[in-house]
Amino acid sequence: MDHNRRNMIKSSAAIAAGATIFSPNMLFGNDDRKARIAFIGLGGRGRWHLRLCLERDDVEVKAICDIDPEAIELTNQMLKKAGYKNVPVYSEHEEIYQKMLEQGDIDGVIIATPWVWHTKMACAAMRAGIYAGIEVSAANTLEECWDLVNTYEETGTPCMILENVNYRRDIMAILNMVRQGIFGELIHMECGYQHNLWNVKFNPGVEFGPGSKGEARWRTQHSISRNGDVYPTHGLGPVSSMLDVNFGNRLMYLTSTASKARGLHHYIVKTAGEDHPNADVDFKLGDVITTVIKTANDETITVQHDTNLPRPYSLGFRVQGTEGLWMDVNSSIYLDGKSPEHQWEAAAPYLEKYDHPLWKRYEEKAVGGGHGGMDFFVDHAFVESIKRKVNTPLDAYDAAAWSSIAPLSEVSIAHGSEPVDIPDFTRGMWMKRKPKFALGDEY
Ligand SMILES: NC(=O)c1ccc[n+]([C@@H]2O[C@H](COP(=O)([O-])OP(=O)(O)OC[C@H]3O[C@@H](n4cnc5c(N)ncnc54)[C@H](O)[C@@H]3O)[C@@H](O)[C@H]2O)c1
Repeated sequence: MDHNRRNMIKSSAAIAAGATIFSPNMLFGNDDRKARIAFIGLGGRGRWHLRLCLERDDVEVKAICDIDPEAIELTNQMLKKAGYKNVPVYSEHEEIYQKMLEQGDIDGVIIATPWVWHTKMACAAMRAGIYAGIEVSAANTLEECWDLVNTYEETGTPCMILENVNYRRDIMAILNMVRQGIFGELIHMECGYQHNLWNVKFNPGVEFGPGSKGEARWRTQHSISRNGDVYPTHGLGPVSSMLDVNFGNRLMYLTSTASKARGLHHYIVKTAGEDHPNADVDFKLGDVITTVIKTANDETITVQHDTNLPRPYSLGFRVQGTEGLWMDVNSSIYLDGKSPEHQWEAAAPYLEKYDHPLWKRYEEKAVGGGHGGMDFFVDHAFVESIKRKVNTPLDAYDAAAWSSIAPLSEVSIAHGSEPVDIPDFTRGMWMKRKPKFALGDEY
């Protein structure tokens, strides 16, 4: 282990324990250093992260790992075009990423594999002293959530959940408004993942599982085996930052309710007819899952998972306090004493006025960077944290708390929507921890 890495680990272990440590390097960054990044999982999402990293002059790609020869081929074409020669490739079998992590010259790894691999790969990276950047959700079971936290605390190596929606421009402007008290004291939040995934869960046609394409190879199985909010973090991440979850607040308990499951079967019959063998598949995942969470500071959050029915995409945000609210579905704001009585105002002028300093600074670089620019910021934060040798702005506690909603909602649904406690993954540190997400205009 080199000297720098030992320093980094010391600092982040101290931060994990709640201490604030500043060295000159941490305050001013180490901008002439490059972040040496490797990638596990180079499907659609992994290659998108790679593309963003290739556009940066402070990232060096050190290794790639994927078990699909086509993904490797497409990745190699991108690397070649970017001027790379002989980047080590790890592709022989499902555990080959372990060997990659031993390569010795990797600072951070971006993990964009199917969900069941995320925690295992992230923990292996942390154990190797390598920053783990995990796609969402970070974990599928409660045990995995604890694995992330325990491994982070044992190794002191940072682990960032790559929740891009935290960096969406309107979300960051609303966060800015929340922090300036414009909505008063927060009372109730709504969010979710409301996205018709018919063409993702079945590809091509109504096919899924081995031999199909993209996420249909693995994601659809979760709709057969599980009934819960299997993808909670796109909604819960942004809302948690606004409510300071894990920083003076925490998620306490939830109740979850599932509707009947009809949408995926309906799609199969509509597309391929009742005689198609997949028309006999028994899908367990309710079409609309509604979870209500109570926080330690007494706010309520509803989280919806709605991916099996035809509908336009929306994360359904609502941020409501004693002075008014914002809703994204109608892009509107109402503020007591400011908006015309009982009438919505267009959110756009507010979003412009309260545009987050990060967006103001990096707008040019971010636009075109995927999902309206937010993908630029999530990778930027990961890379900058590595270069500065500091903890990441979204961390292992965030990854665990937000991802835990998936297994806990399954438990609640299985027991007639009974309340289920959400563990305190910070083991009491939430009472003292200070917010660290998007506080300035650097990363
Ligand atoms: N944040 C976002 O907006 C966003 C968008 C899309 C996907 N995602 C997430 O990113 C992840 C990947 O999604 P995707 O759409 O790229 O899926 P994908 O199926 O296109 O790609 C996954 C890749 O992982 C590879 N893989 C599987 N097991 C592996 C192993 N053991 N070792 C190495 N490689 C392995 C597969 O061969 C495949 O190329 C998922 O967790 C998904 O939820 C997030």
